[in-house]
Amino acid sequence: MSTSVQTMTERVGKLIEHEEQVFRSRRRRSDEMWNEAKEFVSKGVPSSFQDAPPQPIFIDRGEGSRVWDVDGNEYVDFHNGFGVMVVGHAHPLIVEALSKRIPMGTHFAQPVGDVREVARELASRFHQPQWRFANSGTEATLDAIRLARGFTGRDRIVKIEATYHGHHDALMVSVEPKADLMGPAASPASVPQSEGIPKVVTDLTSVVAFNDLAQLEAIFARHPDQIAALIVEPVMMNLGIVMPDDGYLAKVRDIAHRNGALLIFDEVKTGCTIAPGGATERFGVVPDLIALAKAIGGGIPCGAIGGRADVMGLIDEDRVAQFGTFNGNPLTMAASRATLTKILTPAAYAHFDALGEVLGGGLREVIAEHDLPFHVITIGARGGVTYRKEQVRNYRDYLTIDKSFAYVSWLYQCNRGVLMAPFAEENWTLSVQHSEEDVQRYVDNFAELARDLRR
Ligand SMILES: Cc1ncc(COP(=O)(O)O)c(C=O)c1O
Repeated sequence: MSTSVQTMTERVGKLIEHEEQVFRSRRRRSDEMWNEAKEFVSKGVPSSFQDAPPQPIFIDRGEGSRVWDVDGNEYVDFHNGFGVMVVGHAHPLIVEALSKRIPMGTHFAQPVGDVREVARELASRFHQPQWRFANSGTEATLDAIRLARGFTGRDRIVKIEATYHGHHDALMVSVEPKADLMGPAASPASVPQSEGIPKVVTDLTSVVAFNDLAQLEAIFARHPDQIAALIVEPVMMNLGIVMPDDGYLAKVRDIAHRNGALLIFDEVKTGCTIAPGGATERFGVVPDLIALAKAIGGGIPCGAIGGRADVMGLIDEDRVAQFGTFNGNPLTMAASRATLTKILTPAAYAHFDALGEVLGGGLREVIAEHDLPFHVITIGARGGVTYRKEQVRNYRDYLTIDKSFAYVSWLYQCNRGVLMAPFAEENWTLSVQHSEEDVQRYVDNFAELARDLRR
């Protein structure tokens, strides 16, 4: 480690201590509410992802690009509900669509007309002819795995080390495996991400490194005629942002097909955010099945699975079960239709690109000016700073990063009116309601951190 990096690392500890103090002093009501909630709610939060240090922030309301917490702090929201709110908060067209729908009834468990319109829009964006709906990304990847197993008659799944595909058993494997359990880099182990997952289930999921075609070939050779599908997050977005190597996704599809397996894209984060047709469009690779959620629902719980006609045909033939009381819920469908047909228009994607340039450009200038060993990736509405000089290609690269830089950056942003998703793995999501002034706030805060790190 160079002396300047060492000095910076020492400084980070002191900056964190100071920023945590400021953070807590301005969020006393959140702290009270958190402690009150603990009486009835495990960890005091509805999902363990919301329990991030130093403490959860309870939100009061959101409008446009902004949210306000229960202590009255205002933020420009780059967290955007873990990548959901690309429409921004309380978008007038979403408010209108939901306000029209609510007095007409909010749930029937019978199809409504919007189902066809939403599926048609997804079909044209993602080049998959047939669709079904679900209520979360977890459900979407669960259904995609079941379809692949049903179609191929095989049980084994291959996933990439450190991808998160939701919280069902088959894919809660090596999401962020501990160093002493993860196995050698050339042959990663399958590590359950939670207690309560049967070993027989974990053993059916093989794990390979991202961007490593040789490892993928080797896993297919080791399990001939046993692998139903390979599931890939085409751009990894739960490890900062990790881009696929040029041509990687097309080659991955070839390898899967050559071995009689399906390719599933988990586009829960990339779908409709990095391009109208997500990674499928951006990289020009059409998989056999796609799992979507998050941005497609305009802020209402959602999920969707799209696929080849022959694979989805298993649902028509009643060979694969795809169910859900709330699938195609009228509120979700109304918000989805407005999102896809009225808000996420070509102009919206041009807006994301323009803001991404201002934000990414500003951050890169700060990094260059202060000679920081970091880099920035922007891709459509998504982007983030990675706290190492070289690009990350897989989980083992990612492990070389000192996470305290991400944490101090998160605290700086939070204490200066920018809400980011917690945890070092996360990154930003822009919305159609973000302005240049909003992204400049992010750059200014980052510049302040850079000065303090180098002082
Ligand atoms: C890539 C990816 N897939 C699936 C999921 C699971 O989605 P959900 O939280 O809606 O179940 C997530 C959640 O963050 C995700 O990032």
